[in-house]
Amino acid sequence: MSQFLPERVVCNGEAFRLYISKEQIDTRVAELGGIINREYADNKPILIGILNGSFIFLADLMRHISIPCEVDFYKLSSYGDEKVSSGLVTERKMLDASIEGRHVIIVEDIIDTGLSMDYLLKKIKDQKPASVKVITLLHKPDATRYDVQIDHVGFEIPTLFVLGYGLDYAQEGRNLAQIYVLDSND
Ligand code: PRP
Repeated sequence: MSQFLPERVVCNGEAFRLYISKEQIDTRVAELGGIINREYADNKPILIGILNGSFIFLADLMRHISIPCEVDFYKLSSYGDEKVSSGLVTERKMLDASIEGRHVIIVEDIIDTGLSMDYLLKKIKDQKPASVKVITLLHKPDATRYDVQIDHVGFEIPTLFVLGYGLDYAQEGRNLAQIYVLDSND
């Protein structure tokens, strides 16, 4: 069955156009998986996906990891149903795993202002892991106001509102297989 790969989509009444194709995403995610295989060849990492947005990236990334690894999830929310951050991070699900002494890889879909990652890194480091790295599919460097650690980035993008491949607009659009940009960003 072929995937639904439209050039344009409408989500919650707003028009979006294709920005990063499935082919570009697949290529980059495979490269990032290869980087993890090399960096953690001797250390079984635990990947921590930040819900909700990271679930598709994390699932694809893990399928490119050929070394032993584990996964757990942390759920944060700072955007609610809006296009801009509320400035307040809400913690909705804690980790189940103990990460003390573990090699942790935090997996995000996007780092925008950096507020969520700033909050999360403090929480994770408080639990005394052996090491922490941050991998994000997207990063908006011009929007990032917090001096957060970012180890690997899939794509650096300008300050545009993007949708799909896990990223939502008012909770919709996460199922899109490609990444789209809001037309009215122009
Ligand atoms: C998004 C995204 C990151 C965060 C990035 O989450 O998944 O966690 O915003 O923005 P920041 O760098 O400005 O903090 P959101 O709060 O929208 O929740 P979601 O993952 O459930 O969509």
